[in-house]
Amino acid sequence: MTKLSVIGAGNVGATCAQRLAEKNLGDVVLVDIIEGIPQGKALDIYQSAPVEGFNSKITGSNDFSEIKDSDIVVVTAGLARKPGMTREDLLKKNAAIITSVCENIKKYAPNSIVVLVTNPLDIMAQLALKVTGFDPKRVVGMAGMLDSARLSTFIMMETGCKPSEVKTMILGGHGDSMVAIVSQTTVKGKPISEVLPKDRIDAIVERAQKGGAEIVKHLKTGSAFYAPSSGAAYMVEQILKDKKETIPCSCYLTGQFGLNKVYVGVPCKLGKNGVEEIVEIELTADEKAALYKSASIVKKNFDLL
Ligand code: APR
Repeated sequence: MTKLSVIGAGNVGATCAQRLAEKNLGDVVLVDIIEGIPQGKALDIYQSAPVEGFNSKITGSNDFSEIKDSDIVVVTAGLARKPGMTREDLLKKNAAIITSVCENIKKYAPNSIVVLVTNPLDIMAQLALKVTGFDPKRVVGMAGMLDSARLSTFIMMETGCKPSEVKTMILGGHGDSMVAIVSQTTVKGKPISEVLPKDRIDAIVERAQKGGAEIVKHLKTGSAFYAPSSGAAYMVEQILKDKKETIPCSCYLTGQFGLNKVYVGVPCKLGKNGVEEIVEIELTADEKAALYKSASIVKKNFDLL
């Protein structure tokens, strides 16, 4: 039986565990440092199995040894930014959490594929690679799936099209510097530029770029978790089912797009070995410049650590 572990039983982690189970992708272990939370949430999710009809077993624990020999580990442990906290403070706090989590992954699940979700995403993915010492194919970050899904949703809201009729791709770092690839955005197979006027496209892209902040503003005491957990579960499914669709993920680049030794969102194919291929799509000069800028911000912040 496939074994999946989710580290962090907060909003994103617990919802991701639920999605993995409902997709019947394998048995799920939910781990958190807070006593009772992973146990209680796992039991609650498991008690939905007779109603939902899934076969995955779900358990919760505070003990990292429970992740032993997992096939895939999804990492959502971390803090969200609190009022008065700078991005740098958050960076340092989450870096300490990711370091300790990844030491445990290296110890107990040395052959796993790691899907990072904790923010700041690209920097945490780069740190996870360093701490685990894994092949970069086996450490991948979730951001582009979420950002692209947000853009697709706003296009659906604007045009009335169905989810299956819109294709978007957001690359670059997960944050203010993300890059919407407008040149390859289509609605019912037509370029978006033929469907919407430029000012509407610009407004929608900007809303997607600020999509996380919009949710925080509504929720007030937390950040998005339904769509982020969908993105992570989708990536797990791509890996387990060796699907290799071209999707945007944060990957370690070794020369692709002219970038080296940095994690940034790019189109890639996920399969049973992790990142099977980075797909070097054609970008416009502006998109390329924006991608480079994004990568340089990730590098600068990683060096800050
Ligand atoms: N090991 C395991 N779990 C930990 C650790 C650790 N070292 N440190 C913190 N946690 C747990 C917390 O106890 C908490 O239950 O991580 C969980 C985080 O949950 P939430 O605070 O609900 O945060 P969430 O909304 O799930 O976001 C988690 O995902 O999308 C990103 O920006 C988001 O970085 C954030 C992460």
